[in-house]
Amino acid sequence: MNPRLDKLHPYPFEQLSALLAGVNPPDGLPLIALSLGEPKHRAPDFIIEQYRDPETIARGFGTYPPTRGLPGLRGAIADFVTHRYHLAAPIDPETQVLPVNGTREALFAIAQAVIDPSTPNLTLMPNPFYQIYEGAAILAGSTPGYVPCTPATGFNPDWSGITDDQWQATSLVYLCNPGNPSGSVIGIGELKELISKAQEHDFIIVSDECYSEIYADQPPPGLLEAASAMGQTDYRRCLAFNSLSKRSNLPGLRSGYVCGDAQIIERFLLYRTYHGSAMSVHNQWVSELAWRDEAHVEANRQLYREKFEAVMDILENVWPMQKPAAGFYLWPETPIPDEEFTRLLIGEANVKVLPGSYLSRESEGQNPGANRVRMALVASLDECVEAAERIRDFWRRF
Ligand SMILES: Cc1ncc(COP(=O)(O)O)c(C=O)c1O
Repeated sequence: MNPRLDKLHPYPFEQLSALLAGVNPPDGLPLIALSLGEPKHRAPDFIIEQYRDPETIARGFGTYPPTRGLPGLRGAIADFVTHRYHLAAPIDPETQVLPVNGTREALFAIAQAVIDPSTPNLTLMPNPFYQIYEGAAILAGSTPGYVPCTPATGFNPDWSGITDDQWQATSLVYLCNPGNPSGSVIGIGELKELISKAQEHDFIIVSDECYSEIYADQPPPGLLEAASAMGQTDYRRCLAFNSLSKRSNLPGLRSGYVCGDAQIIERFLLYRTYHGSAMSVHNQWVSELAWRDEAHVEANRQLYREKFEAVMDILENVWPMQKPAAGFYLWPETPIPDEEFTRLLIGEANVKVLPGSYLSRESEGQNPGANRVRMALVASLDECVEAAERIRDFWRRF
């Protein structure tokens, strides 16, 4: 077996199941899960409609899909990215776009394609993080470098601790912008600085932007936007990843994109041809429609805004917490250790949250996720309100 498999950490939800084993919630109180970041708003009807025609589905099933994606889908993604990020030169759908089966598999696979495991090298990532970054780095033969995201830097990565030698050893940097779990947004200035570092030290930046369309006030900037603002319209060393999962409530469709540096995309396409990760053609057809429509995205964003307002209203005098700039998570501090808080909350209120320490690693004596929990406001407004009311009552014990 591949010995690197032994270095993988258990996934946070496995840890959560083990933690909650044997805890008995109160009788008659249904579970409300705020633990999983799975969008629960209804998928757009205009997308579901597309699957009603058996002839369309038959054509889709009867075709091997092209790995580089159909021209229509690539065009829709290129237009979305060009307009959304105000790019100085339009994205070229022939060379700068690759459809992928959601960001997760692509965030994992890119490490396999770009990392040279023959020399010791680092992959920097936010801490806390989306755990795929860590597993991708380990399995590709890189060493994860955990960059703390704490209140001191507005929960954005604090690069100040990275030495020149470490930058020089870096092959890949994962960004999560907007961030999971904090919902913080990395600004254009910081993105530009990181792009300059990438040019200086020759590493690749992978920016996971899958929460980009769920924001409170301002659309968060993207990596390619920063590159374009620097006059770098070839997006050298820059790749942006996004998907329809959160933007369009289509997590089951498995549809996303990688966009940016044509030289890397060309090599990644070669890798993916062997990997065998092409998206079914009928999913490519409907994805094209989803990327071209903004009305459903605005309606979706509005639903999240209503939920944040309602939940924060209920909790504001009880549990201090920050409204995130983007994304659909709350990331508050706990009055007792996060695991203990999580167990007590299930036992007394049957509301499931995720301990922050499951999303982060201890590094240089600190664990930035410890004594926090992540709460995903993905359920309906009514359920989120009920969860907030139960949490408010639970908090009276402290
Ligand atoms: C930060 C982050 N990146 C990527 C993903 C994967 O999303 P998908 O593969 O559905 O695009 C998730 C899912 O929750 C996530 O939280």
